[in-house]
Amino acid sequence: MKNLGLFGILLFFSLFVSTRIVSVSCLNSDGLTLLSLRKHFDKVPPELTSTWKTNASEATPCNWFGIICDDSKKVTSLNFTGSEVSGQLGPEIRELKSLEILDMSSNNFSGFISSSLGNCSSLVYIDLSGNGFSGKIPDTLGSLKSLADLYLYNNFFTGELPKSYKLEILYLHKNKLVGSLPASLNLLENLTDLFVANNSLRGTVRFGSTKCRNLVTLDLSYNQFEGGVPPELGSCSSLDALVIVKSNLSGTIPSSLGMLKNLTVLNLSENRLSESIPAEIGDCTNLNTLKLNDNQLGGRIPSALGKLPLEIAELKNLKIVTLFNNSFNGVISPGLGLNSNLEIVDFIGNKFTGEIPPNLCHRKMLTVFNLGSNRLHGKIPTSVGQCKTLSRFILRENNLSGPLPEFSQNHDLSFPDFNSNNFEGPIPRSLGSCRNLTTIILSRNKLTGQIPQELGNLQHLSHLNLGFNLLHGTVPSKFSNWK
Ligand SMILES: *[C@@H]1O[C@H](CO)[C@@H](O)[C@H](O)[C@H]1NC(C)=O
Ligand SMILES: *[C@@H]1O[C@H](CO)[C@@H](O)[C@H](O)[C@H]1NC(C)=O
Ligand SMILES: *[C@@H]1O[C@H](CO)[C@@H](O)[C@H](O)[C@H]1NC(C)=O
Ligand SMILES: *[C@@H]1O[C@H](CO)[C@@H](O)[C@H](O)[C@H]1NC(C)=O
Ligand SMILES: *[C@@H]1O[C@H](CO)[C@@H](O)[C@H](O)[C@H]1NC(C)=O
Ligand SMILES: *[C@@H]1O[C@H](CO)[C@@H](O)[C@H](O)[C@H]1NC(C)=O
Ligand SMILES: *[C@@H]1O[C@H](CO)[C@@H](O)[C@H](O)[C@H]1NC(C)=O
Ligand SMILES: *[C@@H]1O[C@H](CO)[C@@H](O)[C@H](O)[C@H]1NC(C)=O
Ligand SMILES: *[C@@H]1O[C@H](CO)[C@@H](O)[C@H](O)[C@H]1NC(C)=O
Ligand SMILES: *[C@@H]1O[C@H](CO)[C@@H](O)[C@H](O)[C@H]1NC(C)=O
Ligand SMILES: *[C@@H]1O[C@H](CO)[C@@H](O)[C@H](O)[C@H]1NC(C)=O
Ligand SMILES: *[C@@H]1O[C@H](CO)[C@@H](O)[C@H](O)[C@H]1NC(C)=O
Repeated sequence: MKNLGLFGILLFFSLFVSTRIVSVSCLNSDGLTLLSLRKHFDKVPPELTSTWKTNASEATPCNWFGIICDDSKKVTSLNFTGSEVSGQLGPEIRELKSLEILDMSSNNFSGFISSSLGNCSSLVYIDLSGNGFSGKIPDTLGSLKSLADLYLYNNFFTGELPKSYKLEILYLHKNKLVGSLPASLNLLENLTDLFVANNSLRGTVRFGSTKCRNLVTLDLSYNQFEGGVPPELGSCSSLDALVIVKSNLSGTIPSSLGMLKNLTVLNLSENRLSESIPAEIGDCTNLNTLKLNDNQLGGRIPSALGKLPLEIAELKNLKIVTLFNNSFNGVISPGLGLNSNLEIVDFIGNKFTGEIPPNLCHRKMLTVFNLGSNRLHGKIPTSVGQCKTLSRFILRENNLSGPLPEFSQNHDLSFPDFNSNNFEGPIPRSLGSCRNLTTIILSRNKLTGQIPQELGNLQHLSHLNLGFNLLHGTVPSKFSNWK
């Protein structure tokens, strides 16, 4: 009896122990790997806490929060974007051999990316953007043969750009990367998108080759390069957006950019580019946005060459042209606006001469009409007053004369500024019908007559400057309405 009792107890223990072992070991290896990764997380959402654990009736992690498996119950996707998870990405990730998608974007991860991520040989897509990752981007990611999309932007990565990848999409903006753009980027024949803005990259931009034919978007803004825009970019024939803002670029705009028939956005503002805009830009027939503001264009050359090429006025898709803060001179083509639906024309701070081009609002889409601080003379074309889409209308600091136009009822107009010209005649009463006006600046002209009573109806007007004119009479009684 005694022996039997002992046997019973032993039997009980061995059964108990073996069921424990069974309940743990029945979770497959990917599940166990996830539990090891879990140990590196500090804060996790309740959905993760309640599912990432051993459960006697589950042999796979396939129903766990953020997990997708294939038919053989291997983890193919680990995705908990935007789930407020903090902690580290542990080296155990290397065991997930079937992992294709890793999306941990917009969480609060920190620390280094383990080089063992390069062992997840099935990875196609990695998105670790919007975290606090730091350290170098591991070179081992270069051995991932299927990796197509790599999103690491908005972290604190340091060191140089990765050298050998076979990527389609590379987003590295908003980090602390240094060094120059590696020449190896030119070998990525399948690259469609390259974003490296807001880093501390230096050196000359050597980019563009016969291999860049698939490149659609290139954004190198906010770095500190040397030298100019590489002419080789002209071979990137699919390029849709070329954006290199505030990156210390000097020299001229290469005429080869005219070969970019699919280019819709050219944004090279806030650099030190000089000389003229090449006439070939007129061959970029899809161009819709041309931003070259804050450069030295039009300067450092005989003034005859500092003009805006007539070809710009021929572009049929052009909507936005910002050329402010340059040294352009000469007459602005009177045809500008005839051929496309212009929305924004901002040329303030140049040396343009001649008269106001009469057709800017021809297609009735113009919202910003800014030709301030130039050397324009003559009258305001009367048609401009009929431009009902205008919101900002700025002609300050020119040598314009004649009467101000009558304004049709325009509820978008908020900001007319005609300061420092030679305008004559009365303040148009019709301004009083533009009921969203917030600011009116008519100072330093030769305006005469009385201040129209109608201006007193403008409920949103907070700034009215009529100083240094030849106005007389009393201030309208309704001005007390103003804030
Ligand atoms: C264990 O998994 C089963 C099946 O997925 C589920 O119904 C059950 O709620 C889980 N148990 C615990 C304690 O999470
Ligand atoms: C990750 O999941 C979110 C929804 O939770 C989804 O919008 C996103 O597309 C997924 N990421 C990938 C790469 O599939
Ligand atoms: C993110 O993690 C850091 C520590 O790594 C912590 O100080 C911070 O509060 C966390 N932020 C959020 C929004 O959880
Ligand atoms: C991980 O990759 C390294 C080289 O990148 C290799 O030496 C190592 O054997 C790999 N480990 C596993 C478990 O695949
Ligand atoms: C580009 O894509 C093709 C087709 O998917 C592939 O055969 C080739 O190896 C890729 N090239 C590079 C450099 O990634
Ligand atoms: C990039 O840097 C510029 C200049 O420092 C800054 O104005 C801009 O907000 C930054 N952009 C992003 C997305 O951080
Ligand atoms: C800007 O570019 C010039 C020449 O292209 C170079 O000499 C200078 O060092 C650059 N400035 C910075 C801050 O990198
Ligand atoms: C230009 O864009 C069109 C339409 O999106 C496309 O069919 C064509 O292939 C593109 N051309 C190049 C050279 O990428
Ligand atoms: C450049 O211009 C494009 C088109 O207007 C705009 O979307 C983008 O934000 C600009 N880039 C910078 C860095 O200002
Ligand atoms: C033109 O440049 C000057 C000096 O850099 C700056 O103060 C001014 O705001 C710029 N004007 C515009 C319209 O950006
Ligand atoms: C401005 O125009 C007037 C004629 O309207 C002319 O007499 C004057 O010389 C011009 N001033 C400048 C600086 O061009
Ligand atoms: C102008 O004012 C009207 C109401 O008076 C308002 O509905 C509209 O949104 C305003 N438009 C703008 C551009 O502010």
